[in-house]
Amino acid sequence: MLKGRTVIITGANTGIGKETALDLAKRGGRIILACRDEKKALKARKDIILQSGNTDIHFRHLDLASLKSVRSFAERINSEEDKVHVLINNAGIMRCPFWKTEDGFEMQFGVNHLGHYLLTNLLRAKLQSSSPSRIINVSSIAHERGKIDFENLNSEKDYQTAEAYANSKLANVLFNRELSKELQGTGVTANAVHPGIVNTEIGRYTGFHKSGFSMTILGPIFWLFVKSPKQGAQTTIHCAISEDLEMIVNPRNAVLLEKRTKSQRDYGTLVSNWLVYIRQMYLNQVDLSIYVGTTGWL
Ligand SMILES: NC(=O)c1ccc[n+]([C@@H]2O[C@H](COP(=O)([O-])OP(=O)(O)OC[C@H]3O[C@@H](n4cnc5c(N)ncnc54)[C@H](OP(=O)(O)O)[C@@H]3O)[C@@H](O)[C@H]2O)c1
Repeated sequence: MLKGRTVIITGANTGIGKETALDLAKRGGRIILACRDEKKALKARKDIILQSGNTDIHFRHLDLASLKSVRSFAERINSEEDKVHVLINNAGIMRCPFWKTEDGFEMQFGVNHLGHYLLTNLLRAKLQSSSPSRIINVSSIAHERGKIDFENLNSEKDYQTAEAYANSKLANVLFNRELSKELQGTGVTANAVHPGIVNTEIGRYTGFHKSGFSMTILGPIFWLFVKSPKQGAQTTIHCAISEDLEMIVNPRNAVLLEKRTKSQRDYGTLVSNWLVYIRQMYLNQVDLSIYVGTTGWL
């Protein structure tokens, strides 16, 4: 049961995030739906209340494509909420056109990684003071194809939609690894997960979703072989509630995603490359102050 425990889920108005919110609401948690679209979020809140019977469900505005919005969301949570026991960094955008966030970052990297990075760090003290508590980073098996391209840090020279998504998901994994190490001894755990291939709105910017033929003829066959949002939410839910994962802070155990995908990648090298990457970003970009004063990496 989650009675008396507060859970924040980003991107909880649809897909995996909404199903995660519904399940955790049924278990009695106080659920905060951290979403960018008020109309969609209030509709999801209504559905979740109706289906769970739990009225302790709340919408708080969060646009991960705006560092200002992330800061004001965190400020509100830090002042209004006594405790935060679970932070689920679930929101994501995949293969969109070359868009930039309010702060000038390529959209997929900005939303999937940077926004969540800042959010996690701003809520870290609250999570620590609420321990035992948990952070869950929803990554993807796509991280396996991710790379760190020092010559094209913000995708300005070349933008490949699938590569940019994979790179952002790799950043989720690398962040999770460093975070889980840093959190040892604090009572806060961090797990990165791959939810599987799930029938959600994540493909909204891909050719498949835009094509009438694909959606009407191929779609019904394709959807038979992928997970439903409810099935896709199970790994996240497991990380949020499983007693087996209570207090697990060893990175080897903490990164479920790597275990699932039996990755052969040299994560040690990748982490150190990533730190260099972040430093380069910091030197080259206008505002990466989000990285200062949080982990001591700079
Ligand atoms: N579905 C899959 O097969 C799959 C596979 C591997 C990993 N994942 C990961 O699973 C997570 C959930 O995705 P999903 O499949 O449930 O996709 P989805 O149905 O498209 O849901 C994505 C959620 O993220 C929100 N979001 C997007 N941009 C945002 C922003 N700037 N600020 C705040 N929220 C934002 C969306 O809000 P709006 O509705 O307002 O846009 C939506 O609530 C993502 O991190 C995704 O990368 C999914």
